[in-house]
Amino acid sequence: MNSIKPTTLENTNVVNQILRAIGTPSKTVYSPSEDSFLMLQALCSIELNDLAVCDIGTGSGILGLFCAIRGADVTVTDINEIALLETLAAAKRLGILVKPVLSDVFAEVNGEFDFALFNPPYLPSEVVMDRAVDGGPDGLGLTRKFLKDLPTRLKNNGHGLLLLSSLNNPTKVIGEYAEFSFEVLATRQVFFEELQVLDLRLR
Ligand SMILES: C[S@@+](CC[C@H](N)C(=O)[O-])C[C@H]1O[C@@H](n2cnc3c(N)ncnc32)[C@H](O)[C@@H]1O
Repeated sequence: MNSIKPTTLENTNVVNQILRAIGTPSKTVYSPSEDSFLMLQALCSIELNDLAVCDIGTGSGILGLFCAIRGADVTVTDINEIALLETLAAAKRLGILVKPVLSDVFAEVNGEFDFALFNPPYLPSEVVMDRAVDGGPDGLGLTRKFLKDLPTRLKNNGHGLLLLSSLNNPTKVIGEYAEFSFEVLATRQVFFEELQVLDLRLR
């Protein structure tokens, strides 16, 4: 196993290569945005080689494709079939393989993983109009689904990566899931909200 962490320049080159392969996603597919890039920043600090990784809600595929280029065996899921088709097309352009699963969070996904990541739709919204960004009344509908199933989907010593916004009251959320320890790997202020990427491990 290669335990040497890639340099910042190497990571930047990989991300640019992935963005070129993705091109402009369809209207219904989430385009790489501030939250995606913050997740990437956190991913850069994680050794991915040889890991079984599940990228929940892959959208354009940006996070799962990064993990695959970094040597992981990657399953990508989304509720949006077009997102999966476009991720597969980008993977083909990059000459890599990812396994697509059309799934509501983990529902249709088989197996256990070393690492599972989710940049969820988190905007508080009475009605879910846009599945890429709306997270229900408190913004946490899909985050809670992910956190509920994560313990049964991780191998021994596996861990998770999750994005939360200050709109979701992260301190309260963390307090509700005593089975996990949470470590903040990256933060960024974006207009009126602060985004946090948390690494989660079972206690
Ligand atoms: C904020 S976007 C993140 C996309 C991508 N991972 C990124 O970081 O750019 C959230 C993604 O979750 C997907 N999604 C929404 N509801 C889902 C569900 N129930 N199960 C799986 N994916 C879902 C959306 O289609 C969208 O691609």
